[in-house]
Amino acid sequence: MPPVDSTMDKLVSLAKRRGFVFQSSEIYGGLGSVWDYGPLGVELKKNIKERWWRSMVHEREDIEGLDAAILMHPKIWEASGHVAGFTDPLVDCRQCKNRFRADDPRIKGTPGEPTAQCPVCGSKGTLTAPRLFNLMFKTFIGPVEEAAAVVYLRPETAQGIYVNYLNVLQSSRQKIPFGIAQIGKAFRNEITPGNFTFRTREFEQMEMQFFVKPGSDLEWFEFWKAERMKWAQGLGIRPDKLRFHQHGPGELAHYAKDAFDIEYEFPFGWNEFEGIHNRTDFDLSRHQQASGKKLEYLDTATNERFIPYVVETSAGADRTTLVVMADAYREEEVEGEKRVVMRFHPALAPLKAAVFPLVNKEGMPEFARRLYDELRGRFNVFHDDGGSIGRRYRRQDEAGTPFGITVDGQTIQDQTVTVRDRDTLQQERVAASRVAEYLEQRLRG
Ligand code: GAP
Repeated sequence: MPPVDSTMDKLVSLAKRRGFVFQSSEIYGGLGSVWDYGPLGVELKKNIKERWWRSMVHEREDIEGLDAAILMHPKIWEASGHVAGFTDPLVDCRQCKNRFRADDPRIKGTPGEPTAQCPVCGSKGTLTAPRLFNLMFKTFIGPVEEAAAVVYLRPETAQGIYVNYLNVLQSSRQKIPFGIAQIGKAFRNEITPGNFTFRTREFEQMEMQFFVKPGSDLEWFEFWKAERMKWAQGLGIRPDKLRFHQHGPGELAHYAKDAFDIEYEFPFGWNEFEGIHNRTDFDLSRHQQASGKKLEYLDTATNERFIPYVVETSAGADRTTLVVMADAYREEEVEGEKRVVMRFHPALAPLKAAVFPLVNKEGMPEFARRLYDELRGRFNVFHDDGGSIGRRYRRQDEAGTPFGITVDGQTIQDQTVTVRDRDTLQQERVAASRVAEYLEQRLRG
């Protein structure tokens, strides 16, 4: 087990204090492994999703977007293998009735054996041997529960892409190789040992399925592995905290021929936040068989018909947000004082700049207000006139705001303001009329 690190506790506390992430249904005691995003968190996650969408859909000619429904025909999940195979081995404690993942690091010994001890109540020999539990949430469709059909909340967004692949192909006039990208919610009834938003029951995925000619899958697999690592590095994450992990035979999902995770070194150890999977023709073949509809592609150049192979890139939007938050969190010493700063990449930062009147007199508040109003139309900016300027800077450091703009006595004389850089703490004087242009330039990337 990795050494206990208090960074996660500090991050969870900052996330709540500053409005990044709140526990779901907190006033009712919370709902396990479900989280809500506050004003800063929703901006951060949205910036990550937009960056993904831009790089996948807008900047590429060969990928189209899709937004499929969460509820789908239940036969989809039989065909995809999720009804039979999307399971986790779980262990119950007969004494305290708690349930754990069989690989929960807190379990001492082998579950099912008399020496194994329950990590919650401490009883020995009360843990059952691991049993398989399906992770899909079930609900009912139709007005009468008893007579209604069972439907599932999708455990991955990918299937919505597979069942629409011909619709997208035909309506967009793409040719293979091409991809379909989607961002959307997925649900899994996870039994989790915690770790904040790392493993939750409701989460968002950013998935792209790339349809290729069989035989070219290995090449495309390498291509997407490299692209996705580049994208992760482009989020400003420290490169030494990123690595690939190839799935061994026991780790591969039921649909995958080969899989690499992109892992981040969280305070609780190395863990995946994105997977690149070679899913072969597994899903499309199964859907062709189960639906009776031909899902073949006709290559008009060669007159060949084939079921495409699929290379999937699958990232968690919430988990990527957690990576970005964990990587940004720093405790530093500045002029003999401790500061906590979220060193977000400026393009991801929830707030781009904060505007402060140095003091609330001599025309400074009015000037600051006017500047704030002007910037607000173009950037997500914040106005703060409460407390000492030092405290206001510290608050923005915790929010990860890259620039602090201060209106001071000199501003009233010559219409310049100071711009403080969150990371270097350097202050520059910039003409107030040029601040928007200045921010535009510094935020690019
Ligand atoms: N379509 C393939 C697929 O779903 P996965 O490895 O099960 O593959 C892909 O999930 C990504 O989705 C993970 O790398 C992770 O970022 C995210 N994810 C999966 N389960 C999650 C959970 N319970 N909570 C948060 N994110 C999750």
